Amino acid sequence: MKAIDIHTHFFPKSWPDLAARYGTPDWPWIKHTEPGQAIIMLGDREFRKITSACWDVQVRLEDMDRDGIDLQIVSATPVLFAYGREAKDALDCARLFNDAALEFCAPSGGRLKSLCQVPLQDIERSCAELTRCMRAGHLGVQIGNHVGEKNLDDPGILEFLRHCAKEGAAVLVHPWDMMAAPRMPKYMMPWTVGMPAETQLAVVSLIVSGAFDRLPENLRICFAHGGGSFAFLLGRLENAWRHHPVARGFSKFEPSHYLNRFFVDSAVFDSATLQFLVEKMGADRVALGSDYPFPLGEQRVGSLIRDSGLAAEVKSKLLLGNATRWLSMEPVVTAAPAKSGRAVAEVSSAGSGCPVGFSSRAIDAAGAPPVDGASSKLTYSSYLKIPELLKLQIPESSPEHHDELLFIVVHQTYELWFKELLHDLDAVVANLSSAAANPESRDGVYEAARLLRRCTEIMRVLVEQFTILETMLPTHFLAFREKLAPASGFQSEQFREIEFLCGLKDEKMLRYHELTPETHAILNRRLHEASLRDVFFAALKALRLLSGPESSELETFESRARAIHALYADEKNHRDWIDVCERLTEFDELVVSWRLRHIQMVERTIGIRMGTGGSTGSSYLKLTLDKKFFPELWEARTYLQG
Ligand code: HEM
Repeated sequence: MKAIDIHTHFFPKSWPDLAARYGTPDWPWIKHTEPGQAIIMLGDREFRKITSACWDVQVRLEDMDRDGIDLQIVSATPVLFAYGREAKDALDCARLFNDAALEFCAPSGGRLKSLCQVPLQDIERSCAELTRCMRAGHLGVQIGNHVGEKNLDDPGILEFLRHCAKEGAAVLVHPWDMMAAPRMPKYMMPWTVGMPAETQLAVVSLIVSGAFDRLPENLRICFAHGGGSFAFLLGRLENAWRHHPVARGFSKFEPSHYLNRFFVDSAVFDSATLQFLVEKMGADRVALGSDYPFPLGEQRVGSLIRDSGLAAEVKSKLLLGNATRWLSMEPVVTAAPAKSGRAVAEVSSAGSGCPVGFSSRAIDAAGAPPVDGASSKLTYSSYLKIPELLKLQIPESSPEHHDELLFIVVHQTYELWFKELLHDLDAVVANLSSAAANPESRDGVYEAARLLRRCTEIMRVLVEQFTILETMLPTHFLAFREKLAPASGFQSEQFREIEFLCGLKDEKMLRYHELTPETHAILNRRLHEASLRDVFFAALKALRLLSGPESSELETFESRARAIHALYADEKNHRDWIDVCERLTEFDELVVSWRLRHIQMVERTIGIRMGTGGSTGSSYLKLTLDKKFFPELWEARTYLQG
């Protein structure tokens, strides 16, 4: 039997002290009590006992083998949602656990895939984090069924759901933060009573608010725990809809009309209830979900479906087919020789003990290596990740403006070249450092000059590339420009990294990266690291061409320029170093050319309008024309003699 379990949870074995990190109390932490056992704590309070299945991939895979589960979709646990916290802390927390989920799934041979979480109290941050996570390999997102007083029909949450549809993210709605808590202090009633009611509330709010009439039909949304009490109370809802105008809300159609707009999982724990759920929702709308590995989850995952009286074809939909549709995966069907010698189609056998394979459009698109035998041979497209690459151009204009694709492709191409530049410039720094450590050897110097030549050639292409963007009429750009604000070139992390790495460091520029702590941290590191300029002059010191330290910045500058002068004056002995100097100067020159061409293109496209990043536009950019990475190399020219 082939099966995907779409509703399982994980906890990493450890994580940073969140209370200390954010300076607020009662964040979840994990207390290991004995081998394989731990307790999730909220401050001093015990929240839940958990076992190593939460953090140990091996234990999990063994359980999956035991239960005949080929793929599990893991998500963090609602206790980590943090929707009531400061949005920036909730985002940071989401990022920690989202990255931990990918790390957790990585060694599973494609048998564990993850859903991310987002700080749903802040829609902009949520959309950005979802996009990041989808790029990183998550298949979708798990969200809570409400944010404080806001149900899922809240305009901001609907905007987020639209973003999910656009990103192709599967959405799992999980009940949390249960209603009427003071009336349910005991007996786990928030779980047994509150959760089903919360989930029902979420589904009903999407229906009667008319949200399903407005949400895109390609939104793939699923409600946990069989949709809570929704299916059982659908008759009541329909009756109210028919006989009480107020109960109709804004939905165009009666509630049952919308059943084909969402999925529910199968976590209902009773055969007759499952049968009823399938009758109400339809066989195409229920997917195996177990709540593994928690005590309130299905203990032998899949047994409820397998042991039910449902038809074999329906069981197969519940175990596999519906999950693949929710996740937008296609099971790989291969022709296998039958005993009779006739070819029959069957779900292919995958590696790593996984008896089911998925097409590269599905799992591969999320970043995992192909798992089926046929596609495990490297191809042009699997090596270069072409399908993934071609999915990364997502226009904001709607209807899509013809030229927005060009705008995206040109920027993405720049960023790819920036990546290569950083890669090579880092290697130049390493080679110059080794030249400084070993002044007798010429290897580092030659290699640095060779790599710098590559950097200048890349820069030449980058200067030229603006002409392609200039084939776009200004009016065409203005037709979709406002959709892009407040995104701006100011936020090009790699451009700033190149500046910092070369030696042009301006701490103020970090403020454009405050919303993305990871990027901020990278730039902060670059800010404090030795730059190419620092390393270059350290090497000249090692060659005894430069002494110091000098007492003022001006004296340092002048003595550095004199050291370069000395290099050029003794060409016979310093050809290799002179070559490095020439390459650095050329690189500097080309970056200024890049700045100039960028300004020309900006003026040609938007005139003297302000930038989307809030600057004065071209007049701000003109101020950057005087910036140089290696001013001493330019200064030395004034002293040189023939
Ligand atoms: C129609 C095309 C473009 C327009 C109108 C445009 C406009 C601008 C403006 C006005 C700024 C100043 C910051 C602001 O207020 O937003 C800026 C900065 C920047 N842009 Fe562009 N840009 C365009 C294309 C590009 C492309 C293709 C790249 C390639 C990576 C790029 C990279 C940058 C960078 C790195 C900055 C920061 C420069 C600095 O701080 O020195 N831009 N852009």
